[in-house]
Amino acid sequence: MLSRKARLDAHGEDSSYFLGWKEYEKNAYDDVQNPTGIIQMGPAENQLSFDLLESWLASNQDAARLTKNGESVFRELALFQDYRGLPDFKNELVEFMAEIRGNKVNFDPRKLVLMAGATSANETLMFCIAESGDAFLLPTPYYPGFDRDLKWRTGVELVPIHCSSSNGFKVTKCALEEAYQQAHKLSLNVKGVLITNPSNPLGTTMGRDELNDLIDFAVAKKIHIISDEIYSGTVFDHPSFISIMEALMDRKLQDTDLWSRVHIVYSLSKDLGLPGFRVGMIYFNNETVVSAATKMSSFGLISSQTQYLLSKILSDKKFTRNYLKENRKRLKTRREMIVAALRNAGIGCLKSNAGLFCWVDMRHLLSSNTFDAEMELWKKILREAGLNISPGASCHCSEPGWFRICFANMSEDTLNLSMQRIKALAEKIQQCRRGRVTHQDSGCNSRRRSFSKWVLNLCSYDREPDR
Ligand SMILES: Cc1ncc(COP(=O)(O)O)c(C=O)c1O
Repeated sequence: MLSRKARLDAHGEDSSYFLGWKEYEKNAYDDVQNPTGIIQMGPAENQLSFDLLESWLASNQDAARLTKNGESVFRELALFQDYRGLPDFKNELVEFMAEIRGNKVNFDPRKLVLMAGATSANETLMFCIAESGDAFLLPTPYYPGFDRDLKWRTGVELVPIHCSSSNGFKVTKCALEEAYQQAHKLSLNVKGVLITNPSNPLGTTMGRDELNDLIDFAVAKKIHIISDEIYSGTVFDHPSFISIMEALMDRKLQDTDLWSRVHIVYSLSKDLGLPGFRVGMIYFNNETVVSAATKMSSFGLISSQTQYLLSKILSDKKFTRNYLKENRKRLKTRREMIVAALRNAGIGCLKSNAGLFCWVDMRHLLSSNTFDAEMELWKKILREAGLNISPGASCHCSEPGWFRICFANMSEDTLNLSMQRIKALAEKIQQCRRGRVTHQDSGCNSRRRSFSKWVLNLCSYDREPDR
């Protein structure tokens, strides 16, 4: 019945990343209806500043009602089908992107291609610049959705650039070269490197030296750089964000071959917290690729009323400036809360300055230094503590024991509860390990009984970890 492509399991739906979501859906936490349910800490959603957008909508009803100076624009929008997008929206969008980059970089709206989210944008980019069987190098750990977005329908291969906790998971020259050689061993033609800056799942921005090493590497190998900058507006602490465009311009590389091989992916899913609106884009420096991608964008356009509404929101510069500032402040406060609570539970995090998540070090809670032990701990966190977080293996991390915990998709009370639960679980594991209370002792068992409220009937516990 199904085609070969449709049968491929590259969607990743059976990975622990998505498995945890399914368990959450069966037993979702609700402070009144289901206070012992699973707390969802898996999706990188930003719900911290909805009130700001809602109050803008309340005082700008023209935009939501699709009227302009009292006149309806409904018919105009209903018929709009130019796949190059609404010019007003594209103009506002490039200004918003420039503002996020401190106006150090300017973008030309003619080089922007609109897509239904960064998911669509990343896939379209692969279609435009790579053949099936070509490879892209990606620093690990990386966003689990990339396996689906970049590989599934395009036939592109991903080769990990292994980054290590010893230097805070930074991308080194050596790691880049090793990944390149690995691709060659596999007889793959390397087309480019894809970075996520700021990183998902690390929550860190790439430094100037790292970007310069990457640029030198791309020049030497004559390959593309794709910079997914979907979290660029979430940078809440030093060091400040450096876009790949800024790094190129600082080195005056505008007139080089590399300039036309550098592409930026962006979306409003994270910075404005609007993943449901499906607003993404690719920015190219090369007109031939702009033209091909614009035609391909026919498969995943942004609806005209969404573009219209957002062009109005983004044109209110006072609002966007205040929104970005306030949103960063709220993210910073949240991060400080979760870091302090984890520290109180004896758990550390990678130092970060951006994003909607922490990259959490639970190596000391593993029964052995293996991905099997990481999966075992992940199941405990899901079953016993009732928290859905993402194990490092689902992000292709090279070292077991790291987890991504999202902190911006829930209320403060829920975050506090999640931290109490994780603390209780960490204490239990350590007590049992220290042998003060043995596995058979009543201490462990009674604690286990109280946690059994959260025990789930997970069908696939016996499956292999996804690496
Ligand atoms: C790095 C990265 N790229 C792309 C996406 C997909 O974003 P969108 O909702 O715009 O498709 C995500 C979503 O989490 C992401 O983290």
